[in-house]
Amino acid sequence: MSKRESIEPYKGTRDFYPADMAVQQYIFDTWSSVAESFGFERYDASVLEPSELYRQKSSEEIVDEQTYTFTDRGDREVTLRPEMTPTAARMVAAKRRELALPLRWYSIPNLFRYERPQRGRLREHWQLNCDIFGVDHYSADVELIALGYHVLTTFGADSDMFEIRISDRGWLNATLANAGLTEEESARVIALLDRKDKIDNFDEELKKITTAELDFDSKQPSADSNLAHVIAGLGELGITNVTFSPSTVRGFTYYTGTVFEFFDTSGENTRSLLGGGRYDNLTEKFGGEPVPGIGFGMGDICLRDFLETHDLLTANITAPTVMVVPTDPALNINAEKIAQQFRAAGISTSVDLSSRKLGKKLSSAGDALVEYALVLGDDELKSETYALKNLISGSQETGAIDKLIKSIQ
Ligand code: HAM
Repeated sequence: MSKRESIEPYKGTRDFYPADMAVQQYIFDTWSSVAESFGFERYDASVLEPSELYRQKSSEEIVDEQTYTFTDRGDREVTLRPEMTPTAARMVAAKRRELALPLRWYSIPNLFRYERPQRGRLREHWQLNCDIFGVDHYSADVELIALGYHVLTTFGADSDMFEIRISDRGWLNATLANAGLTEEESARVIALLDRKDKIDNFDEELKKITTAELDFDSKQPSADSNLAHVIAGLGELGITNVTFSPSTVRGFTYYTGTVFEFFDTSGENTRSLLGGGRYDNLTEKFGGEPVPGIGFGMGDICLRDFLETHDLLTANITAPTVMVVPTDPALNINAEKIAQQFRAAGISTSVDLSSRKLGKKLSSAGDALVEYALVLGDDELKSETYALKNLISGSQETGAIDKLIKSIQ
């Protein structure tokens, strides 16, 4: 292995240096504050799950081709979670009697999928998951799509920057059955629709499955259908960037009703920003009573690309308010003592522990966007009178620590 390779992170994963971490933290904070503003409660679980959890409860593509699975020392098959929905359903099923429905739950898990790394897709990503359990009325569908919408507008997006594509698995199943397709043919058409945007011979492939006349684009859900109610409900909330999209099917086997995806309209980012849908039978697969669920996942990678494309990532630099700058390393511990007093007053404070020249220390504090520098030499220490320099305005204040702390507050 060459030296160069050994400093790279594992394929498809990212290191978060402080500048990236600041962006990640901003994304997570915004996610949780919007979810909590809708009354969602946070939950989490381990990244490790028994592999069994994903059989018949996820998508075939994910289980057969994309999971990281290994056998542990006790011969158990273990999988690094590729998505959160089976875990959430498992947790709800496990405490079905104690939990007061309906539940509004959110989580920000890291997920692992063995994918070919490309723009918008990596092998580890974080995903905001929001789900409502225990409501079968379409208003839950409306609320969740509205939540996804508000996450994006809270980041500063306008509604013309993204599009909400929506369909309904129930509608699609009925449409295919009415056209005379067998269940097996329907499943193949749905899998093909899921790949529609990735292939250019869709019509040809469709003819191989069925000769039935399936002109999806001309088909519309009826006015009293679930889908029409969802679209109308969103309209009532002022959300109108919604299009009925018969080719939006979502690959997971568990969806039973409304399905939706959000896309960037700029053309720069082709992967979905968010995907979700209604799944009314998932908890039943754990042997309990069925609890209807609906939810979505929004990935951090596509979101960051979206924010960058639309110039919505404001600089987010974390710097302490005060830098204590000793004139000599012999005074470093005295500087730490002074820093402690500032921190006790709630002012973030760091100490320059380097042995650089004073001028260099002050200029690098300024470059790091620190607001104030407090220079500490033998004279200051003796007189207990210090100078606090405002690095932005250039003004200066002198006095005892208490007085300087008050001047910042
Ligand atoms: P999903 O469509 O697989 O759905 O993922 C949702 C979102 O996660 C995608 O729209 C994308 O933003 C992001 N995402 C997925 N895979 C990757 C990847 N390899 N790299 C980067 N981003 C990715 C689900 O996972 C469902 N469990 C969502 C759900 C929750 N349905 C109901 N509740």
